Amino acid sequence: MKSTALKVQPVSGALGAEVTGVDVSEELSQTQRDALHEAFLEHNVLFFREQNMTPEQHLRFTRIFGEPDTYPFMVGLPDTPEVIDIVKTESDTVNFGGSWHSDTAYMPQPALGTVLHAIEVPEYGGDTLFANAAAAYDALTDGMKELLDGVIGVFDSDYGYGGSRRKALSNLELMNDRYDEDSESYLSEHPIVRTHPETGRKALYVSKGHTAHLKNMSHEESRPLITYLSEHIVKPEFTCRFRWQKGSIAVWDNRSTQHYALNDYGGMRRHMRRVTMKGDTPR
Ligand code: OGA
Ligand code: MN
Repeated sequence: MKSTALKVQPVSGALGAEVTGVDVSEELSQTQRDALHEAFLEHNVLFFREQNMTPEQHLRFTRIFGEPDTYPFMVGLPDTPEVIDIVKTESDTVNFGGSWHSDTAYMPQPALGTVLHAIEVPEYGGDTLFANAAAAYDALTDGMKELLDGVIGVFDSDYGYGGSRRKALSNLELMNDRYDEDSESYLSEHPIVRTHPETGRKALYVSKGHTAHLKNMSHEESRPLITYLSEHIVKPEFTCRFRWQKGSIAVWDNRSTQHYALNDYGGMRRHMRRVTMKGDTPR
């Protein structure tokens, strides 16, 4: 595919846009790069079809949006450690990313965004859902917004995994082979309403799987609010759904969105290649 005129078409009223007229394996012009970066900030998730990228091209494309980073739980490709393979084999039952989350929210500086490239997809199933956490924040009442002002969440990388991420994901054969044996669990504190450093827009930053409890509050006190907000963010009107094909790419902003990888393709193989970007401290 050769780049032609770049076009950006929204896929839902909430978030997400499909970009056509660009071959992301090419070295893009400054004008194209600026247009993509602007579309990323406006739509929160961008989708591309029928793209081929080598790991090196994947890194170059990612730099339009942010600086590639390594992922603490998995070992990347030998020459490009920021590029990781996420494979669910025919015999795996658990999938990676199978609950609503924002990537690496448990790190002191969580990933800015993620560029996911589909290498091999099941015949059907394996879609990814996205939710707009800024739109979800906007929809809250003034009373709730006031209540949430200054509330800090405690984010735990093991929380959704019953205390052991490695054990919970041990069914993922290839992921397990590439698991970083030295990685520990991570615990960080972030405001559960964060302000986007590039757009200034506020977004909810909380999820049932990563937010263990609210700071200076017990689990019993925290969980009802965490549950309410987590479920509010993913109401259908704040979401879109992406059906992957071989060569599809999704680029999402972790500062303003959450995503969910559907696990509805038992017995089939799915292979994705991913790069996350360095983020800043949520404020
Ligand atoms: C991820 C993730 C979703 C998917 O790569 O961070 O959650 O659909 N993946 O594979
Ligand atoms: Mn994810």
